[in-house]
Amino acid sequence: MGITPQSPSSSLPILFKTMGESHLERVFEIEQLAYDYPWTKGIINDCLKTGYIGVVCIIDKQIQGYAIMLRGVDEVHLLNICIHPDFRQQKIATKLLKYMLNISIFMKANNLFLEVRKSNTQAINLYKKNGFKQIGTRKDYYRSKQGREDAITFKKDLSTLKIESILT
Ligand SMILES: CC(C)(COP(=O)(O)OP(=O)(O)OC[C@H]1O[C@@H](n2cnc3c(N)ncnc32)[C@H](O)[C@@H]1OP(=O)(O)O)[C@@H](O)C(=O)NCCC(=O)NCCS
Repeated sequence: MGITPQSPSSSLPILFKTMGESHLERVFEIEQLAYDYPWTKGIINDCLKTGYIGVVCIIDKQIQGYAIMLRGVDEVHLLNICIHPDFRQQKIATKLLKYMLNISIFMKANNLFLEVRKSNTQAINLYKKNGFKQIGTRKDYYRSKQGREDAITFKKDLSTLKIESILT
């Protein structure tokens, strides 16, 4: 997977690139800014080494977001999508999500699954807005400051979707 061309309509020029070892430091930096319980650098590195699909968003030569996805038999699982706090609410996650959906459709996955914290309104809104349906909850799935927190499981049916332009 290479670099995709830029949208003429987007305010921020974004390049999407396959995540590699040289991106680890910056990805980990953003991970720590975004989560109370961030993944370690080792976890992210293991994902890359074991064939997970990682994509970084580059804006003005600097990584400002990333996503990590796991391929199953005929489905994919989105495990992480994260945008640097200074670059949020500019539709970068929306474009990155579309990019990940396109990869999934290209790989002939029928469904994309993901889990999200019940309290993560921003992410829940992002998924709902992009056609994900809630299919269940997982009790006490995440660590939280109050003890444990439930996850909501979302699914998007990809079986009838075609690869879409991410430039719109
Ligand atoms: C969730 C996250 C990826 C969204 O990234 P983003 O680039 O700001 O999202 P977008 O600009 O593409 O917004 C798309 C939609 O998400 C929702 N959204 C984004 N930020 C929001 C906010 N602060 N409050 C409420 N809804 C929000 C909205 O529905 C928005 O659409 P709208 O602007 O038309 O209302 C980002 O907040 C983030 O990195 N959070 C920390 C990491 C995380 O929680 N990842 C998800 C793990 S499951």
